[in-house]
Amino acid sequence: MEVVILADADAVAAYVADAIVNVVGSRPMPVLGLATGSSPLGVYAELVRRHRAGMVSFHDVRAFLLDEYIGLPTGHPESYRAFIDAHFAGLVDIDAANVHVPGAGAAEEGVSGAAIADACVAYEADIRAAGGVDLQLLGIGADGHLGFNEPTSSLASRTRVKTLTEQTRRDNARFFAGIDEVPRHVVTQGIGTILDARHLVLIATGAAKAAPIARAVEGPLTSMCPASAIQLHPTATVVIDEAAAAHLTLADYYRTTFANKPAWQTP
Ligand code: GLP
Repeated sequence: MEVVILADADAVAAYVADAIVNVVGSRPMPVLGLATGSSPLGVYAELVRRHRAGMVSFHDVRAFLLDEYIGLPTGHPESYRAFIDAHFAGLVDIDAANVHVPGAGAAEEGVSGAAIADACVAYEADIRAAGGVDLQLLGIGADGHLGFNEPTSSLASRTRVKTLTEQTRRDNARFFAGIDEVPRHVVTQGIGTILDARHLVLIATGAAKAAPIARAVEGPLTSMCPASAIQLHPTATVVIDEAAAAHLTLADYYRTTFANKPAWQTP
């Protein structure tokens, strides 16, 4: 695992945007795994800026979202499909048909559990058919969740339905009229699905992320902190600001390693 500690959120966004632009420019049909939440917003803004400046095209990109709420009507502004369109996909030249959302079409209110289960299986098949994810962007929840894999999620899990913890519903209530509006159920890529991506890039900024980042990076591998599963991945990069690095025991080692990283060393 590589831990990159940068001065602030802007530096984190620029660094991760570089990694994404690099992947997009180096493969004929790049596959990006996209995350929602506030953590990747700076990255998306930077990618949109570079696209508008003619520096990058997403024309040939296929994208797969990590997760989606169940029960929100199509077009609901807080659905993750609407989120990714508003902050990234709708602002660049990616083909909307190539932006995939788990449970799409089946996760709306009134649709059967069997239809959602079928959509989860189809999502895994779609990722495989695209050749797998080249770079998976990740945020981290306060309770250490990855995507919507809440604590005690199987570390081998695949795309499926999960029930949100009350803490996650409270955390996400800021985007809704109130906590009662936050769905209880979601569809999320599993930990096993996420670990299949060729490169994981976990972003976190701000003091509120210091504790979950320390658990994910340096804590024991445990389903009680689903993000600790990144320790199993051969190519995981954790990009954080100073505030989110505050609880890391080996912060100085990570800083020294990064400062002395040879130009020939790939992630
Ligand atoms: C949300 C999303 C996650 C995200 C996390 C942190 O519930 N499902 O993908 O990483 O919680 O969100 P934020 O980046 O807003 O702190």
